[in-house]
Amino acid sequence: MDGNRRSGEPWLDGSLKLIIEMTNGTHQLRCVGCSRSVDAGDLSRDFRCTDCGELFEVFYPGWSGPPHTRPNPSALRWLWKDRRLSNEDIDRSGVWRFREMLPVLRDLRNIVTLGEGNTPLYDLPLSGRRLGLKNLRAKHQGMNPTGSFKDAGMTAALSVARERGFTWVACASTGNTSAAMAAYAARAGMRSLVLLPEGKIAWGKLSQAMDYGALTLQLRTDFDGCVRVLAEVVQRLPIYLLNSVNPYRLEGQKTPALEIAEQLEWQTPDHLIVPGGNLANGSALGKAFLEMKALGLTARVPRISVIQAEGANPLVRSLQDFDGEKLEPITARTRASAIRIGNPASWRKAVKVIRETGGWVEQVSEAEIALAKAEIGSEGIGCEPASAVTLAGLKNLRQQGKVDADASVILLLTGHTLKDPDYTIQYHRGELLSENERSGLDAEIAATSRGTIELEASVDAVLRELERVEP
Ligand code: F0G
Repeated sequence: MDGNRRSGEPWLDGSLKLIIEMTNGTHQLRCVGCSRSVDAGDLSRDFRCTDCGELFEVFYPGWSGPPHTRPNPSALRWLWKDRRLSNEDIDRSGVWRFREMLPVLRDLRNIVTLGEGNTPLYDLPLSGRRLGLKNLRAKHQGMNPTGSFKDAGMTAALSVARERGFTWVACASTGNTSAAMAAYAARAGMRSLVLLPEGKIAWGKLSQAMDYGALTLQLRTDFDGCVRVLAEVVQRLPIYLLNSVNPYRLEGQKTPALEIAEQLEWQTPDHLIVPGGNLANGSALGKAFLEMKALGLTARVPRISVIQAEGANPLVRSLQDFDGEKLEPITARTRASAIRIGNPASWRKAVKVIRETGGWVEQVSEAEIALAKAEIGSEGIGCEPASAVTLAGLKNLRQQGKVDADASVILLLTGHTLKDPDYTIQYHRGELLSENERSGLDAEIAATSRGTIELEASVDAVLRELERVEP
């Protein structure tokens, strides 16, 4: 650790020993179904509990001791901020800067980083005004090295793969996980296998996996079908599974929550809204906020709400029909291809986080998603379609009176707008949505559509167009 560089900071010196202990402690894994704990070495290859079939989450037994055995929160906050000034890659990474919160590696030299995280928190004045909200912001995880929030989880889990000596890693993906995995594997000199639902992912994402050198297989099925095939493949070959069933992915995906808290001077927002696909992201962020509170870093946890597309809404149905006790897989349909998932792996974790934080689950239509995406674009930010469900969902929550005008709300934007330019171009040309889908939102959609205009190459023609538009 960074012992020498830090000495001289009065209160930090006292806490240094405890910080080192926090980092060196061993972690364990607890099943979210039957609560059984296992050591890291006893995890099965598909990361499912051999007793009940559910997923595991990482926990740190050393953190549950009395307060005097834990580091001073101020010391941790100071250390994390100070690392931003370091020239070491692992200090500058927005994930490993917070490494005391994810001590899953034995040796930090195994870290594979692309300088992920440290993403911007933008305010959204136009949408805020429209919704009558004084304090609406977007945490843009699309501003990561491969353009999506997946990088934060991937640096963690791929580093674990490297430490454990794997040479091959694999994932099934709706696109972004595959792009992130392929990039980090390439940096580590590892091979990567990607299973994708044929014809159902955005080209931007597929092109990334190809560019970073993955073995890219498009299977004639959907995402859920790819997951099933891969679960079998990793049982037969020594390939490390990097889907979000891997609990180390979620440890990395906790860090945007730490960044948000830091960006708000360790205040907590009232409400965090995330898109829901395989349901790992909301779970990871919830875990982080709950851990931060338990460690005394923050005083509260935000409500965490999860928004799904209407045609890919198994969590909505689970809570409506079965009170979150059971989830029935569906065949998913939505143009927001990143979240076209009918059998989400982390649904139990998501239900737990929504309950523990007092959040909600909502569904939004294809037109609502498209309009929200255009509105986020018009703020000069932009995002991919799946990310825009957050704003669309917030509109519903606001209408239902669940979000007050003075609440501080953060939308978690998961992917960059360039991930899926076809969607954007079709929207602005009026080719994305059917008349039926648009109905009720025609005026708003027309007002946000900006098709390109083809003209002769003359000054007059350009000036005439300028006269036609409003000032
Ligand atoms: N937003 C984007 C842009 C995504 O790529 C995903 C998931 C989600 C939201 C949903 O997050 O699964 O944690 O609930 N993409 C995965 C993939 C499934 O393969 O790239 P989640």
